[in-house]
Amino acid sequence: MRTLIVANQKGGVGKSTTTINLAAGLARLNKKVLIIDSDPQGHSTLGLNVSTEKRKTIAELLTEERVTAREVIQKTYAPNLDIIPSDLSLAVADLKLANLGAREFKLRNKVKQIDGEYDYILIDSPPTFGTLTMNAFTTGSEIILPVQLGYLSLEGVSNFFDTINFVNRDINSIINHKVGIAGVLVNFFDVRTKLAREVFTSINEIFGNKVFTTKIPQNVKINEAQSQGKSIFDYAPKCRGSTAYGSLVQEILKMDGKI
Ligand SMILES: Nc1ncnc2c1ncn2[C@@H]1O[C@H](COP(=O)(O)OP(=O)(O)OP(=O)(O)O)[C@@H](O)[C@H]1O
Ligand SMILES: [Mg+2]
Repeated sequence: MRTLIVANQKGGVGKSTTTINLAAGLARLNKKVLIIDSDPQGHSTLGLNVSTEKRKTIAELLTEERVTAREVIQKTYAPNLDIIPSDLSLAVADLKLANLGAREFKLRNKVKQIDGEYDYILIDSPPTFGTLTMNAFTTGSEIILPVQLGYLSLEGVSNFFDTINFVNRDINSIINHKVGIAGVLVNFFDVRTKLAREVFTSINEIFGNKVFTTKIPQNVKINEAQSQGKSIFDYAPKCRGSTAYGSLVQEILKMDGKI
């Protein structure tokens, strides 16, 4: 079982998009996959057309001792792809968590209940470095960092790497756990802009083998798929976005946890 975290404190870089499409791509290859939506915006949940009405979500899972992982898991429309959904109630749960003991380890303890039941778990995280993201870092072991190339991207990536070192030293060491960077994923890549090409070259020079070979192009179908509640593979299987996510799936499979 591999647990991947899709994280970046910057908003709108493609965390939820990557969570949905990477998970769907793995599920299509007959891997058993679980998405954990750990963002109060619930974009992975909405993007797979999963409803939280009258159902318990990750909010109860994190704040109520008796609620089990199995109770909150829902099937999605796609075979082999399940989800622990989220909605705005997670924002309140996040505040409640602040007053609970061992608040960084709530998700980890619940995920242990389903140990070995999935080949892959993918955690979508919010655009902040709070308790929710910390729970992701104590649960998962490989981080995918989507970025949009711009002047500040390099600095953002460096800061993120520093934060991971801090989490490993000050928090994960308590539980003998370690999280590492699987790779930086360039999203919204537009080969026509000089800036994107330049920043991509610099990112590759500095972060070398920590940058995925796959780049996700700017592609309107990716955006449309999400609003239709489908993965890119089901919405537009022949588009450039679908090919790119297919190649990311292959890169992840090849790594097989070696980071
Ligand atoms: N490669 C792409 N081409 C076109 N649109 C994209 C692409 N990647 C993401 N988008 C769109 O950009 C928007 C932001 O993407 P997404 O929600 O995945 O970002 P996020 O990092 O999860 O944001 P947040 O930080 O708010 O959680 C969405 O509307 C999504 O459909
Ligand atoms: Mg998101």
